[in-house]
Amino acid sequence: MSLWGGRFSEPSDDDLRQLNDSIGFDIRFYREDIEGSIVYALALADADVITEQEARAIVEGLRGVLEEFESGEFEVQKSDEDIHTAVERRLTELIGEVGGKVHTGRSRNDQVATDFRLWCMRAADDLAATLRELQRALVDCADEHVDTVMPGYTHLQPAQPITAAHWLMSFFWMLERDVDRLYSARQRMAVCPLGAGALAGNPFAIDRDQIAADLGFAAPSENSLDAVSDRDFVTDLLYAIALCATHMSRLAEDVLLYSNPAFGFITLADRYSTGSSLMPQKRNADPMELMRGKAGRLIGNLTALLTTLKGLPSGYNKDLQEDKEAVFDSFDTMRSILPVLIAIVRSLEINPDAMRAALDEDLLATDLADYLVRKGMPFRQAHHTVGEVVRLAGDTGSTLSKLPLASLQEICELFAQDVYDVFDFDQSVAKRSVFGGAGPSAVREQIALAKESVSG
Ligand code: ARG
Repeated sequence: MSLWGGRFSEPSDDDLRQLNDSIGFDIRFYREDIEGSIVYALALADADVITEQEARAIVEGLRGVLEEFESGEFEVQKSDEDIHTAVERRLTELIGEVGGKVHTGRSRNDQVATDFRLWCMRAADDLAATLRELQRALVDCADEHVDTVMPGYTHLQPAQPITAAHWLMSFFWMLERDVDRLYSARQRMAVCPLGAGALAGNPFAIDRDQIAADLGFAAPSENSLDAVSDRDFVTDLLYAIALCATHMSRLAEDVLLYSNPAFGFITLADRYSTGSSLMPQKRNADPMELMRGKAGRLIGNLTALLTTLKGLPSGYNKDLQEDKEAVFDSFDTMRSILPVLIAIVRSLEINPDAMRAALDEDLLATDLADYLVRKGMPFRQAHHTVGEVVRLAGDTGSTLSKLPLASLQEICELFAQDVYDVFDFDQSVAKRSVFGGAGPSAVREQIALAKESVSG
C-alpha cells in the first residue's frame, strides 16, 4: 500500500509509478533510513506520543528489517515507491498496525533530507580516506626523487629546472585542499532536519537536540522550511568531488604527456597500460584518459544539481529527488577510478636520464639574469641583456654555455669568467631553497610537512 492513497479514487498509473518511484536508487540508504526511524521512534516515546512498549516493538521490528536488508533477504514490492515506503511497509508486516505510528509528525521531506545527509557524511569520510591513500602514494614516490632534476614548464614551454619530487608534490597539495574541502563540507552537512515535518515543523514535543545527537549530527536545523529543501550539503559534496576530479584530471594529463615517447620522463607499468587492436607497438594510458574524461562527467553532475535547484519555490519539491543519482554517480565514479590511480602512482617508473636529457640550457636564462643582478644590474635591464645573449646563441647556432666570454662581454661588460658556473642545472634548482621552492632542501621540508599531514 502506498503512503498516501486515501484521497484517490483509482490506483496510480503504471508509467507514472515508473517515473515517480525512487526505490531503484534510494535503497542505497536503507541503513540511514532505519537508523533515523529508530531514533525517531524513541523520541516519540520520550515525548509521550507513543508508549515505551510501542517504541520497543517498533525498534525491534526495524532491527528485523535491517537484518533482512543486510542478509539480502529483503524483498522490494511493486508498491514500494521509495526506501521510506519500503521500510514502513515491511515494519508493519512484521509488527502489525503499530508500525504505522513511526511516521507520526514526520514527513518524508524531513526524513529523506536526514537520511541523505547521513549517507553523504559517510561518503565524504570514505572519499577523504581514499584520497589520503593517493596522497601517500605521491609522497612516497616524491621521496625517491628529491634530486631528480627535470624541466619545468609554463605555457607548456620549457621554463626553469625543477625536480620530479616537486612536480609530484604539487598534486599532493591539491589533494590536501580536496581532503580539507570534504571535511569542511561534512561539517556543514552535520545539521539534522528531522523534526522539520513536511515544512512547518513537528507538532509534538520531540527533543530535536537529542535526535540530532543520537544520529551523529552536531545540531538540529534552525528553520523547518529551509531544512526540507536545503540541498547545500549535496552541492558541497558534488563540488568537492568535481574539483578533486579536476585536479586528478590535470595529474592524468601530465602523466599522459610525460609518458609520451617524445618526453619519456615516466613509464606506466604494463598492467596499467592498454594496447591497440591494429597497431602492435601501441602502449596507451587509457586509465589516465578516462580520469580526464570522467572529470567532465563529475562537473556535469554538479552543474545538473545547481540547475535543478536554482528555480525552485520554497519548500520541498519533487525535483529534489534528482539529487541522489547525481551523488551516487559521482561517488561511484570516484570509487572506481581512485584505486587505479593510486596503483598507477605506486608503480610509476620515473626515468631520471630522460628528464636530464631534456634539460636545455635555455632553462637557465633566468639564472643568467640573476647573475647580472648579483653584480648590481637592475633586473629589468638584466632581463633585456640576457634576451640579447639568447638571441646571439640562437643566431650563431650555439648554446648559452658555448658562447665565448668575449662575445658575452660585447653585450655586457659585467660578464666575467665565473659566468660559466651558472650553467649547472643542479645548482639552479638548489638555489630555489626558499620555503615552497623546487630546491631539494625545500622539497625535503614540504615532504616532511606532507608526511605529518597524512599520518594524522
Ligand atoms: N523520494 C523522495 C525524494 O527523494 C522522498 C521525499 C518524497 N516526498 C514527497 N513529499 N513526495 O525526494
